[in-house]
Order: sequence, then structure tokens, then C-alpha cells
Amino acid sequence: MTTGSLLAADLVIAVLASAAWLGGGAASAVRRRPLALGLAAVALLATLARAVTITALARAGWWFAAEKVLIAAPLSLAAVGVAGPRLLRAPGDIRAVAVPLLFAGYATSSALLVTVLHGYPASAGAGLLAVAGVVAATLISGRALDARPSRTLSRVAVVAAGAALVTGTGLTVASGAAPGVPHDHEYPVARIAAEPTRRFTLTAGTATVNAGGRDVAAWAFNAQVPGPELTATVGDVLEVTLRNRDIGRGVTLHWHGYDVPNDQDGVPGVTQAAVRPGQEFVYRFRADQAGTYWYHTHSASDVGVRMGLYGVLLVRPGPVTGLDVTVPVHTLAGRPLPAPRVERAEAGVPVRLRLINTDSTTHRYALAGTAFRVAAIDGVDLRGPTPLVDTAILIPAGGRYDLVFDAPATPVSLFVDGRAVYSTGAVSTVTDAWPVLDPLGYGASAPVPWSRFDRTFTLVLDRGLDLRRLLPRYAHTVNGAADPDIPPQVVRLGDVVLFTIVNRSQVVHPWHLHGHHVLVLARDGGPATGSPLWLDSFDVRPGEVWKVAFRADNPGMWANHCHNLAHADAGMTLHLLYS
Ligand code: C2O
Ligand code: CU
Repeated sequence: MTTGSLLAADLVIAVLASAAWLGGGAASAVRRRPLALGLAAVALLATLARAVTITALARAGWWFAAEKVLIAAPLSLAAVGVAGPRLLRAPGDIRAVAVPLLFAGYATSSALLVTVLHGYPASAGAGLLAVAGVVAATLISGRALDARPSRTLSRVAVVAAGAALVTGTGLTVASGAAPGVPHDHEYPVARIAAEPTRRFTLTAGTATVNAGGRDVAAWAFNAQVPGPELTATVGDVLEVTLRNRDIGRGVTLHWHGYDVPNDQDGVPGVTQAAVRPGQEFVYRFRADQAGTYWYHTHSASDVGVRMGLYGVLLVRPGPVTGLDVTVPVHTLAGRPLPAPRVERAEAGVPVRLRLINTDSTTHRYALAGTAFRVAAIDGVDLRGPTPLVDTAILIPAGGRYDLVFDAPATPVSLFVDGRAVYSTGAVSTVTDAWPVLDPLGYGASAPVPWSRFDRTFTLVLDRGLDLRRLLPRYAHTVNGAADPDIPPQVVRLGDVVLFTIVNRSQVVHPWHLHGHHVLVLARDGGPATGSPLWLDSFDVRPGEVWKVAFRADNPGMWANHCHNLAHADAGMTLHLLYS
């Protein structure tokens, strides 16, 4: 069982236990004896099962189990300890066990709330708040059911509530004091003296574009979705003028995966102000990384990218040989882009398919009719890629894979989520059952260039209630906090930095650090064994633990966020900061 499915199973069992205890309490209150006893039995079994899931999660990593061990387990024990003996004494009047059963229900459900609303890290405040809630609810139920209020219970209630208040406030103050992101810091930036050799102008505006045979409302660069393909050769100096005609939410250009100087990175509020309607901004940087990249707005990025403000950035090492095809995949107004394309390929012609996922969720790609190699991921060439046949590829949000092959005499077809997107003729193959490539074991390995790390950071990805805003929200969190309250990771120029990224939530988080490519060291404790993988976008699935490292060689303040842009907007954004 994977840690991801353990997390899900544990959640389901916890819900079941709470519901069964509460249901049993309610049933006994109305004297439905068999029902009450049956539900209590289910609750006991579920509690037993939870002992197994919690233990397994703790073994997978403390991040997955902290609040379950510290808060849920004691409360579950209290539940069994209080309700169990009363049930065994089998009272003549089943109503006598109503309050103990309800107590058990409150105990398990408040622990569940701690997991769902508070998550990681576990805190004394959350635990005490949970206990206080249980005691209060039990007292109220006792009153309502006319049971004799227990002295001890009342005392526990007062003490727990008081302690919760004190620690709760303490914790809020402490975390509220986390260093904010300074927005007025100046970094030395390598100014580009050279004259631009490639000039482009991108004008953002509302537009009506054709998607899958239907006209849809979009936000577009130069009235097209995707925007113009920006191509350059290594060594070129790019100058891109961005104009905003009428995008009220503002626009910027972020060069996804391109490790530009910080002030060219296009993050509003961090590296520049958003470009408002009628304004412009000029980006200038040297194209010294060859490969497949893309650009997109970073202002209101979730809606902006979804509506169409993105395009391809392609930097070639030299002249084109053979067929060089970009396939930027996107979903516009519910319709898949690009439109299917068919072109003839002479047998023997080298073909490079540059697959780009510009959506916020993972896509599945399958190339049928030929053996192929993955030449590059996220713009960086792989070492010793071997031929693959009938193998599917998962590309995370923001990620790019370059597939290469020599055109065979027979047709070849690229499917994205089962839809033919690029072909050299008709291919009828069902690719659904193909195994999926694991890039961590693909290609030829090379030693990790560092033996020690100057800084190590752990990011635990989760969900939680964010109360620090005017309107509370159910945020996507990192280490229990949501943007803008997540403390930045501070590094020095030259540091070798290790990030451990843990996903204890129920959804995939495609992780994306700006300004740097990270080297994947391990996933779930298993070291990467294939070609060195220098990524800027990688899917951290539920229950996964990734270890990635990089050298801090690009000073500035860099966004570090989930590239499911709805998650990024809902709190999952933090910053890497050079001191
Ligand atoms: Cu492609 Cu900060 O994003
Ligand atoms: Cu996410």
C-alpha cells in the first residue's frame, strides 16, 4: 500500500469511527438497543483498524502521522476507555450509555477535525482546543439527555479550555511573527550590456479565439492562444516588450524554467509591479540555456494562464535538423489545445517532439508507432537515454519532455490523454494500458556533484484552515501556513541547498522553484538511479517524499510554489531568499 492510499484509508476509517460512535450515541438516546450496540461494535473495529493505519503512517514518516499519534490516538483511547466498559456492563436501559458513546464520537471527530483543518505540524494548542471541544459537547449532551453531570468532566473542561486559550493565543502570536517577505530589497543583478539580437512584442488583451472548432472568450498575447512562439539560438540576447491593452488583472511575463536574472522573472509584487492596461515593460536576458521552455503571465496567474496568456519559448543550440515540433498542451474553456496536426515525414528524418504541459494538472502522453528516446526534460538533456517502446509519459503541470526518433516508413501518432494531437498518418492503437515511464530510473547515472549541504529545508504540503484573513479560507498550506505567512527559506550565494518536499494531502502538487533547476536525489527514500534529472517542475503525489538539491547561484527573491495555479493562489506559494 502506498503512503498516499494509507492517508486516504486512514481518513475514511476515521470518518467511519466518528460516525459510528455518534450514531451509536444517538441510537441509544432514543433506546434503539440493537442499532446502538451494532454501531458501537463498528466503531470499536474502526478504532482498532486505525491503530494499524496510524502506525504504518508513522513508519512512513513523522510528517504523515504527527497529529494522529499525538492527538487522535489519545482521544481514540479515551473514547474506547470511556465507552467500552459501560457497554460491557450491558445496562438494562441502553439510554445510560448514550453520553459515553457520544463522548467517544466527539473525541474521534474532534481529532479528525484537527487532521483536516490544522494538519502538520501538530500543536499543543490544537490538541487542547480539541479536548476542550469534546468536554464542552459532552457536557451539553449530558444536560440535554438529563444525565448527572460529572464533577471531574466539568473540571477537565475548565482546565482544558483555559490551557487551549493560552497556548492557542501563544501559537498565533508566535507564527504571526514569522519573517515576512521583504519587498524592498535590492539584489545585485548582472546587467546585460549586449545589444539585443532577437526582439519581440507581446500585447496582452481580451480576444475571441477558436478552440476545438468553437469561438471562445480568451485572454491572449497578440490575439492568439497560445501566444507567438518565441525562438532563439543559444547566445542570443532577447528583448521582449510586453504591453497590456485591456487585461484589468494586470500582466507580466514569467519565463518558466528559464533561469533569468531575478529582475526579469516577472513575478508581480516580488520582482516587478504588474503591467496595468496601457502600460508596458521590457524584458531583456541572454538565452544561454538551450531547450524547451514556455512563458506565461504571473499576474492573477491561475485565471490568466487558464484564459490563454502563455506561449512557447524555444532556444535551439543551432540550426534545425529534421522536424522540430512543439506541442503545447492546454485546456481553453474546457476544450483541448492544440488542434490535431497531421504532417508527412520522410522515412529516416529525425523528429523532435517538444511536449509542454501548460495546464494545472498532469497529462498523459503516448507516442505510438515508433521507438523513441526522451532526449530532455525541463529543457535539460538527459544522459544516455535508451529507446522506449509502448511506454506512456506523465508530464506534470509546467513540465516539458523532448521526445526524439527517426521517422519510420509507417505512421506515428502522439496521443495526449487518448486524443491524437500530432501524427504522420493514421494510427489505431489503444495506449491506455501502457506502462508509465519513471524518469528517476531512466538513462545513465552520474555521481551527485555534492557531498554535503549547507542548508536543508523541509516543506510539508497539506490543507488547513487559514484564519489570518478577513474571510477564513480552506487553504493549501506549506508547514501549516498559507501565503503570505509562510516564512521564506533564506540562503547565501554559493550554498548547496537540500529541499525535502512531503505531500501529506490527498491531491498532487506539481512543485516549481523559480530561477533554479533542482537535481532530484530521491523519492520515498529510493535514490534516483537514472540520468541526472535537473527539473523545474515535478509532481509530488499524495504520500510522496522528494529530496531535491541545487546550488544557490542566482541571487534574488524567487517564488517557490505549486504549479497547480489554483493551489498557488489558495496559499501554496512561498519564497527562496538570498541573504
Ligand atoms: Cu510557471 Cu511561478 O510559474
Ligand atoms: Cu498543489
